[in-house]
Amino acid sequence: MTKIQNTFKKMVSHHPPIWLMRQAGRYLPEYRKLRQEFPSFMEFCRNSQAATTATLQPINRFDFDAAIIFSDILTIPHAMGQTVSFVPQQGPVLEPIQDWNTFLSAAVLADPQTLESTYQTIKLTRHTLPQEKSLFGFAGAPWTLMTYMLGKKGSDYSKIITFAAEHPKLFKQLQCRLIEVISSHLIEQINAGADMVQLFDSWAAAVPQAQQQAWVVEPIVQIVNKVHQQTAAPIIVFAKGAEYCYPQIAAQIEQTTKLGFSLGSAAALTQPVKGYVLQGGLNPETLVQGGERLATEVQQILQAHAGTPYIFNLGHGILPHTPLAHVEQLVNLVAGH
Ligand code: CP3
Repeated sequence: MTKIQNTFKKMVSHHPPIWLMRQAGRYLPEYRKLRQEFPSFMEFCRNSQAATTATLQPINRFDFDAAIIFSDILTIPHAMGQTVSFVPQQGPVLEPIQDWNTFLSAAVLADPQTLESTYQTIKLTRHTLPQEKSLFGFAGAPWTLMTYMLGKKGSDYSKIITFAAEHPKLFKQLQCRLIEVISSHLIEQINAGADMVQLFDSWAAAVPQAQQQAWVVEPIVQIVNKVHQQTAAPIIVFAKGAEYCYPQIAAQIEQTTKLGFSLGSAAALTQPVKGYVLQGGLNPETLVQGGERLATEVQQILQAHAGTPYIFNLGHGILPHTPLAHVEQLVNLVAGH
């Protein structure tokens, strides 16, 4: 049993387990070095050997309780046939969907290797990862993937919202297709050796209130139930900035012992659902600052979740300019050293 598996058994500890979202990434010098070998980020993700190395880099440096497999949420649109490139200073850019009929009707993925390489990375990582560490697989939730697939520009979501209004049928069909592909990708990651999975709805807060049910809650419920039907692994749902949806999601999931929820920074001290594993909440900016401020906020978070099953994490991914010494400080604070 890993520490995080124990948390899902509702075993509560003064020193909860800890891992960080985006813990494999640009704040690590060894990551930046490895990254230079791959002009294309997607090629990096598809190279199981390099992806295994990147997955293990933060584990070799810090005493985290979990590794998260090195990949990206955008491997799914890429595998479905929408070429993804990462443009410096601009972030991810996806080729627009040209032929909707082919895109939606494809019974098989245009490029299954992009997802299969992740299953290989999981198998390779499992060989080396110490038994007491958990291994997370992950995927993006339909709404967050659709923002990229339909042309999100920075924090401007007008394109996707207009698309939904003008093409409601296509919007729904795309959502249904994504529910299938995402569920299958999570199940395959668990079958390959992931102990648990996280579903990222990173941009859930951008969904208009009237659509929260149809665009955030329902697709997540369907995915969690599909994964639970076929595997024994826990799922952590992260609908950042829409944590008030958690009670509605929880109410529609039967297997409560296999469900957890992650908190964004603004929700760090709240308990939007009772009786479930909660995770996260520390503001990534506080980790950049370190020192007394970090110590104080960590204590506040630990106190807010004392006596309940909780996994320490950030409220969003670690920032590239985070000092390594502050990550070390955080791990020690949480471990009580
Ligand atoms: O360590 C880990 O957490 C595992 C790997 C991981 C990555 N992306 C690697 C990555 C995970 C879990 C993700 C999830 C992801 N990807 C999300 C959801 C979580 C979140 O942070 O909200 C989202 C929205 C994406 C999409 C994405 N991929 C963005 C917005 C970017 C940044 C683009 C940029 O240039 O700043 C990426 C690229 C990416 N994914 C990097 C890493 C380490 C950096 C790319 C690089 O090294 O050049």
